[in-house]
Amino acid sequence: MSTWANRHKFIERNVTLLAVLAFITVAIGGIVEIAPLFWIDTTVKHVEGVRPYTPLELAGRNIYIREGCYGCHSQMIRPFRDEVERYGHYSLAAESMYDHPFQWGSERTGPDLARVGGRYSDEWHAQHLKDPRSMVPESIMPPYAFLADRALDVPNIADHLKVLRAEGVPYSDEDIAKAAADIITQGYGDGDTEDLVKRYPDAQSRDFDGDPGRLTEMDALIAYLQSLGTHVDFQSAAAQEQPE
Ligand code: HEC
Repeated sequence: MSTWANRHKFIERNVTLLAVLAFITVAIGGIVEIAPLFWIDTTVKHVEGVRPYTPLELAGRNIYIREGCYGCHSQMIRPFRDEVERYGHYSLAAESMYDHPFQWGSERTGPDLARVGGRYSDEWHAQHLKDPRSMVPESIMPPYAFLADRALDVPNIADHLKVLRAEGVPYSDEDIAKAAADIITQGYGDGDTEDLVKRYPDAQSRDFDGDPGRLTEMDALIAYLQSLGTHVDFQSAAAQEQPE
């Protein structure tokens, strides 16, 4: 028998060696497939309209995560007819490219929220969050009325933007410098809203929780909900992602 076949026999009879060599072989295959995804720019195709969260929306997103809303709500519309008919256009990867961490989820005790933005009025959201059963009698969603009583307190929002920038979200130096001021502008709906919209296209500035006198956690959460899934214009042909 040739020496090559002998060596192979040796490997086959040493289970540990066989396992180590098999692992190395599979790992090389894995690295060849996975590693380029970290460097090529086209892993997630950019889609027109997708933009980073405004500081107020980001603060609302943090409340969403803190309160565990993701435990009952997914944010990913799958490309199936029943989902698309119920929730709207299926989610594109690019729509969550600035989500760190993303909120796709799979548990749907409540409906998917990926495109809830603009579906209801601010008043509806405020009332629903305070007392879900007053809007949907059969709802099992817990009430979050306390959010309307808690002042929005985000002293470190600029640092949060900086961390996200380190993760690849394209916040500019100006966005970071103005983060705290942007929260006030957007949540009260006065101040330089034009400047805000220039940096964050179609950012909506107004009082969100029905209490214009102060900025609460409810304002931030509703600002976040109202922005979900609203940025990509699926009517325009340019926005269509062609399946490959
Ligand atoms: C225990 C599960 C549960 C949790 C936790 C929960 N929800 Fe819900 N949610 C539901 C259910 C069930 C519904 C459907 C009935 C209704 O509209 O109240 C719902 C409905 C909604 C709707 C309306 C969606 C639509 O398209 O009609 C919104 C918006 C919403 N929830 C936001 C939130 C937010 C924000 C939080 C966290 C602060 C949250 N939910 C936490 C169960 C939950």
